[in-house]
Amino acid sequence: MKKGFIFDLDGVITDTASFHFIAWKQLADELGIIIDLKFNEQLKGISRMESLERILRQGGKETDYSLEEKEALADKKNTHYVTLLQELTPENILPGVETFLKEAASRAIPCAIASASKNAPFILEKLGIKECFSVIVDPNTLAKGKPDPEIFLRAAKGLAIQPNEAIGFEDAQAGIEAIKAAGMYAVGIQTEEALVGANKIVKRLDELSMDELLKSE
Ligand code: BG6
Ligand code: MG
Repeated sequence: MKKGFIFDLDGVITDTASFHFIAWKQLADELGIIIDLKFNEQLKGISRMESLERILRQGGKETDYSLEEKEALADKKNTHYVTLLQELTPENILPGVETFLKEAASRAIPCAIASASKNAPFILEKLGIKECFSVIVDPNTLAKGKPDPEIFLRAAKGLAIQPNEAIGFEDAQAGIEAIKAAGMYAVGIQTEEALVGANKIVKRLDELSMDELLKSE
């Protein structure tokens, strides 16, 4: 039997991709780099600095800035992003999520967040569901980002369960790869992007039968 749930945040619990895009687009415009929504897809699940690197590469400007300057650019994007996050309310929780979390709580199944976002605790507070998660992995403490399994393994450890007792939920390919590399069962949340390697794919969490999910191998 599975004993715990580990969730990505952006695209699984709430849809912040459009806020990330608005903030990155403003910065890219200032730098004279063109990015569009299709390009934004490849930033999903990727850390702030790696996202900036990809944007600079997109504009052929990967060697134009020092590390200090890149940190300042990433901070600037984040300040804008955090301003946009002020608008978040419980209405921004994706459909099906609250029902699923309530059912998990009623069965005493612990839940964790494994998100690359350093804003995860703030976002969960704004959504009013922070207390649903007994573990929120701090991405500042990780050596590697997704698709490395480190973040999911750390979450399982925090929940005091074995990796093969955990179910991971992800909307990004890098995340599905991280869950599988951690030796966990992977549920993919379907977006425009095809998710390769997921054990199951759904559009929303309340499509899942928790009884069946907990028995899955
Ligand atoms: C991930 C998002 O959850 O968090 C990425 O999918 C984002 O797009 C990453 O870059 C880091 O987020 P933050 O909030 O730390 O800049
Ligand atoms: Mg995501």
